[in-house]
Amino acid sequence: SPRNRLAERLLDWYDRHARDLPWRVSPAARAAGTVADPYRVWLSEVMLQQTTVAAVKPFFERFVNKWPDVAALAAADEADVMGAWAGLGYYSRARNLHACAKTVADDFAGRFPGSAARLRDLPGIGDYTSAAIAAIAFDEAVPVVDGNVERVTTRLLAIETPLPKAKVAIRAALAAILPVGRPGDFAQAMMDLGATVCTPRKPACVLCPWRPDCRAASEGRQESFPVKPKK
Ligand code: ADE
Repeated sequence: SPRNRLAERLLDWYDRHARDLPWRVSPAARAAGTVADPYRVWLSEVMLQQTTVAAVKPFFERFVNKWPDVAALAAADEADVMGAWAGLGYYSRARNLHACAKTVADDFAGRFPGSAARLRDLPGIGDYTSAAIAAIAFDEAVPVVDGNVERVTTRLLAIETPLPKAKVAIRAALAAILPVGRPGDFAQAMMDLGATVCTPRKPACVLCPWRPDCRAASEGRQESFPVKPKK
């Protein structure tokens, strides 16, 4: 079916080209049965909310070395957490991070709730972050929509609706495409595709696993998507 063809093409590309990032379980390790640690997924997603992958990497490594699990982070002094965050910016994220760690440690026995709907209630966790954690750490089949994913999806389907209104169509399209078996890999594959191939300017369509399926590319209009709102 078209649904499986799209997901299979993307996952096959991800199996060969996934970026090696410290919070990830590689496709090979996943295939061998390793599961993602929700603490590491949560920490990385909060750090990545307003900061680039390159900038986050060393901070992520320092945090998990210092505080290897959510109970350790919950027990830390607020000032130490703020100090370790210094340089990442948007300091409300650090305060929410510590508050969230305490909530998970105190109210959930140190285990992150396993669904997007319940993650959404925790401090500092919004629509995007709850979906990302649920898909990547708990294999919940939910769409995960960040800027990269918006660009890839609006190009694939030539969605003419301007952002942010297009988000409804993007979510619906992804819900129909995403594979129930590997929703976290699917989400991260779309992020990697957007970061490395389906870039804002001069996308490398010759390298794209979705080139044969992409409506924008077939029309030569890659850079016309996503459509920005009129000012
Ligand atoms: N940006 C936000 N979350 C990410 C992830 N899990 N992998 C790569 N880039 C990301």
